Amino acid sequence: MARPELMVAIVGASRGLGLGLATEFLRRGARVIGTVREPAGGSGLHALVGSADGRLEIETADVTDGEGIAALRQRLARRRLDVLMVNAGVAGGDAQGYEEAFFRTMTVNVLGVMNVVRTLSVLMADNGALAVMSSGLGSVGRNSSGGMEPYRSSKAALNQSLRSFAAEHADAPWSTTAIAPGWVRTDMGGPGAPLDVETSCRGVADVLESRLGGRGCAFLDYRGEVIPW
Ligand SMILES: NC(=O)c1ccc[n+]([C@@H]2O[C@H](COP(=O)([O-])OP(=O)(O)OC[C@H]3O[C@@H](n4cnc5c(N)ncnc54)[C@H](OP(=O)(O)O)[C@@H]3O)[C@@H](O)[C@H]2O)c1
Repeated sequence: MARPELMVAIVGASRGLGLGLATEFLRRGARVIGTVREPAGGSGLHALVGSADGRLEIETADVTDGEGIAALRQRLARRRLDVLMVNAGVAGGDAQGYEEAFFRTMTVNVLGVMNVVRTLSVLMADNGALAVMSSGLGSVGRNSSGGMEPYRSSKAALNQSLRSFAAEHADAPWSTTAIAPGWVRTDMGGPGAPLDVETSCRGVADVLESRLGGRGCAFLDYRGEVIPW
C-alpha cells in the first residue's frame, strides 16, 4: 500500500488509464493531482472529487500548450511530487491519412509529453518516480509485425527522448520509467482489448511504487517485466 502522504501527479487523467491510475492511487491513500484539458467539469476525474476525502486536486493542462505547462509548474511550485506520471497520449486513428497521423502522434506523444517531463521534473521529490506512459508497440526490438507505424514511432521516439533526458540527469535523486500498460479496454484500446483498466492500473501503480527510491531509466510493463528498447 502507498504511504498516506504520497503525492502523485497524473497528467492526462480525464478518462481511460489516467483516470484509472488516479482512482487506484486514491484507493491506496495517496494525494493526487490530476490534470484534464476541459476545465468546465464533467470528466470522470471530476466525478471522483466527492469521494476523495479532499485528497484529489484537479488542474487544467494540454501537453501541447507550452505556456500552459509552464503556468502549471508555477501553480505547483511549492509541491514536491513523489510520483509524476505523464499519461496523456493519442493513437492518431482519427487523423486524415499517414502524414496527419504522424504529425499528431509526434506532437502529443513525444514533443508534448517530453515538454511536461522537462518542465515539471523540477518539482520531483528526492527518491521519487518520474514516468511516462509508453507502449509495448514502442519497442523497436520486439517489432516483428509492423502496423500502426505513426503511433509505434511516436512511442519509440518517446522512449529515446526519455532515455536522453535520464542520461542528462544521471545524478538526479529520482528514477525514470517508460511504462507499457498492456492492451487495455479504453477509448483508445477499444472493447476487444484483453485487459480491464483496473488490472492494468493496479499493475502500473505497483511498478511506480517499486521505482520509488530507485535510480536510472527502465522500460517496464504493467507487471514489472523488462521490455527491450
Ligand atoms: N489503451 C491501451 O491499450 C494502451 C496501450 C499502450 C499504451 N497506452 C497509452 O496509455 C495512455 C492512455 O491511454 P488510454 O488508453 O487511457 O487512452 P484514452 O482513453 O484515449 O485517454 C487518453 C487520455 O490522454 C488525454 N490527452 C490526449 N491528448 C492530450 C493533450 N494534448 N493534452 C493533455 N491530455 C491529453 C486525454 O484527455 P481528453 O479527455 O481531454 O481527450 C485522455 O485523458 C496513452 O499514452 C496511450 O498511448 C494505451
